[in-house]
Amino acid sequence: MAILTLSSVTVGCGHQIKSAIKPNGLVQTPPMGWNSWNTFGGDVSEGLVQQIADALVKTHMRDLGYQYVNIDDGWALPNRANGHLQPDPVKFPHGIKSLADYLHSRGLKFGIYGDRGIKTCVKNTPGSFGYEKVDASDFAAWGVDYLKYDNCNPSPFSNQQEEYRRMASAIAATGRPMVFSICAWEFKGWMPITGNLWRTTSDIKDDWNTIVDIIDINEKSAEYAGPGKWNDPDMLAIDCYGITDFQHGQKCDGMSELVGTKGLTEIESRSHFSMWAIMAAPLIAGNDIRNMPKFVMDILMNREVITIDQDPLGRQGVKVWDNSNGLCVYSKVLSGINTRAVALFNRTEKGEKITANWKDIGLSEGGATVRNLWNHSDLGDFTGGFTTYVGPHEVVLLKITGSKNQ
Ligand code: GLA
Repeated sequence: MAILTLSSVTVGCGHQIKSAIKPNGLVQTPPMGWNSWNTFGGDVSEGLVQQIADALVKTHMRDLGYQYVNIDDGWALPNRANGHLQPDPVKFPHGIKSLADYLHSRGLKFGIYGDRGIKTCVKNTPGSFGYEKVDASDFAAWGVDYLKYDNCNPSPFSNQQEEYRRMASAIAATGRPMVFSICAWEFKGWMPITGNLWRTTSDIKDDWNTIVDIIDINEKSAEYAGPGKWNDPDMLAIDCYGITDFQHGQKCDGMSELVGTKGLTEIESRSHFSMWAIMAAPLIAGNDIRNMPKFVMDILMNREVITIDQDPLGRQGVKVWDNSNGLCVYSKVLSGINTRAVALFNRTEKGEKITANWKDIGLSEGGATVRNLWNHSDLGDFTGGFTTYVGPHEVVLLKITGSKNQ
């Protein structure tokens, strides 16, 4: 059972962090699942979540690891009753516990949303400031397995680190294993000893430039990622097409600020998924999985790419080569001997050749086998490096295995 310890830890630029939360042993590989926000905004309900759960089972996404079904902002009434958060009875007529039971009986897990401040971000429902113990104990009683804890509307006397630590400690004290997902939009040194994952950036949009920016920011804290603790570059923005009509509750309500943008193309969506896998990022789908085009299913359900994300070594891939002009190579060390996942990433508007040099990815100059994880094809044995054409905004994702005697 996770408990609060009184150890003191030095992180980053010598900042002393007084107390660490004992690791809870959860999410030894990055969490996978679904979250309501990107597509449905505040329009979350029991019926919707049940249908999503059924779709996860029917599509076999659950069997590939998409396990956590997380409701985001908008589930609670605007006021507490006797100090307790109140699920909206219109949206959740049978309460939260019964929904969690529905998910558990289908081999899924249930996630909920809260906020460290006075109110949540958008939907004006109560935050947990000063109510951490009550809320954690209600979450545990309802069967919650995962808490996303947001950063909006702090109290005037706020201390961010202390408030996240307080909730982490409150959920640990319930004795129910719960993933603690810090959503504070930037990395801070205390996060890896407080939560299981932490958002490194502001909210994702289904917009190519935003995806690229997020990749760059998320890399800065790569060294802190590992089993049980992950950088979180936000939920997947695949399958939205820039359709962000907030007023009419259309697709992608949660990403509504970008009304009128084009969204991501099929290639860009694949690149987005490839880079999340290379970064060992949580794979939390944000689309309407009850009704997905085939190409979206093919992306979200590419077993070989998911295996890269879920590699048990838990290393986050980093950039190992950059021509300063939009072409770059990322490498993720995988478990197994001399094995790497490698992304050849073309950020430009023009197709170009990119080379993965063995020396850049930490393999010796000898032979190595190369496999393409989107075509599912073995490309053969290569010496010293591998070069291929990469289209505009494309990521060619490879698995490269050096010979055993390297
Ligand atoms: C913040 C978070 C988002 C989402 C919304 C809900 O913006 O970063 O992921 O949870 O709040 O209001």
